[in-house]
Order: sequence, then C-alpha cells, then structure tokens
Amino acid sequence: MPRPARHVFVCTQQRPPQHPRGSCSAHGSPAVLQAFWGELQRRQAQDGVAVTSCGCLGPCGDGANVLVYPEGVLYSGVQPADVAEIFDAHLAGGRPVERLLAHASVW
Ligand code: FES
Repeated sequence: MPRPARHVFVCTQQRPPQHPRGSCSAHGSPAVLQAFWGELQRRQAQDGVAVTSCGCLGPCGDGANVLVYPEGVLYSGVQPADVAEIFDAHLAGGRPVERLLAHASVW
C-alpha cells in the first residue's frame, strides 16, 4: 500500500441524545463518511488519499468535523454535498475549502 499524500479523518463519535456535548454522528457524520468513501471509489484515488473514521476531534457541537493531514486542516459543519468540493479543491488541488474551515477559536 503506497503512503497517501493526504489522510482524511471523519469523526463518527456517538453520544446519548441528551449528552451536553452533542456529537458528530448526531450531525450526520456517518453519511459524510459514506460520501468520502464513495467519492474515493468513484475517483479511484486510493493511492493518493486515505479516508478513516475516527473518534471525537474536539468541537462536537460544530460537526460533522473532518480533519485532513498533512496540513492539519479541520473542517466543520461538513455535509455530504460538500465532499466533492473538498476532493476537487483540497485533496486534488491542495487548496483548503475556506468556507468550511473550523472557526479559529477552536482550531
Ligand atoms: S463528536 Fe466529533 S468532534 Fe466531538
């Protein structure tokens, strides 16, 4: 397996419905993860991009949160419809999607 140029971590943390921190799963992150995997397959980009589910990244109430390395770019409020743009601009083009960046106060 070649080392990927970029690694995408999608938070799929779950918490009970009344938990004060909320969770990315409650904000739809399982569908976001599926969208990343689908886009990865559609583009046959597995040699350059890895996509992994992960636990809590911190700003739970802002989910779905997605972290991209090696840049350490954190996206918040990601929806499945945003995934193709993240692929085009960031994962393929190297330019983070400004409108989805986590607020500077949290990252
Ligand atoms: S639950 Fe996803 S950042 Fe905390």
